[in-house]
Amino acid sequence: MGFIKLLKNQHPDLPYLDVISKELDQLKFRITQFLHTSKMNTVFETKNEDITINFLLEEVMDFLYPSIVDGNIQIISNIEEDIKINGDRNELKQVFLNLLMNAVDAVCEEENERRINIDTEAGFDQITINVSNNGSPLNPDAIEYIFEPFYTTKKLGTGIGLFVCKNIVEKHKGKIHCFSKDHLTTFQITLPIKKNES
Ligand SMILES: Nc1ncnc2c1ncn2[C@@H]1O[C@H](COP(=O)(O)OP(=O)(O)OP(=O)(O)O)[C@@H](O)[C@H]1O
Ligand SMILES: [Mg+2]
Repeated sequence: MGFIKLLKNQHPDLPYLDVISKELDQLKFRITQFLHTSKMNTVFETKNEDITINFLLEEVMDFLYPSIVDGNIQIISNIEEDIKINGDRNELKQVFLNLLMNAVDAVCEEENERRINIDTEAGFDQITINVSNNGSPLNPDAIEYIFEPFYTTKKLGTGIGLFVCKNIVEKHKGKIHCFSKDHLTTFQITLPIKKNES
């Protein structure tokens, strides 16, 4: 990745560098998922950073912007500003990336209007983040298994996305739940809010 950056600086007109760069990002993402699954992620130090939720969610949406445009998906977000939590920024990014990638996959199965909603609700000591999408609801029996490793209904799926999400959320002392009915599927995450030091 470093050498691609160097090449880009020295030869800005060289073709395909953006494509290589994006694919390397995807590979890196996949590898971290596998490391999480195999519990080998201790090779990366877990950080304890101040994370502002609205910035984190915006970063994730930027990363997914090409697939959102490509799928002609409408994103409706209602995210409170300046709510901070403590944790590992990259790990939490991975959680929302996984949920949104699943939402993109789910709505793209449908021909009609494709919608993804992201909203937050901050309480006294915790924040609730809902990522919802329209699309076919999950089978009620399946909801029991979706957080298990390697459960997938996709041709090219690995079934580790939600397993990794649950691990990371619980490591951050949070909870994750799924509700799905009548063409609305919601993944709800609650995380403790960082208290202002006084
Ligand atoms: N928003 C959603 N709508 C409908 N079904 C979903 C949604 N999110 C997850 N699922 C179901 O849960 C399964 C498991 O999801 P998970 O993210 O763990 O794995 P995957 O997406 O199949 O593969 P991977 O994330 O490893 O690429 C999916 O295959 C799909 O059947
Ligand atoms: Mg997934």
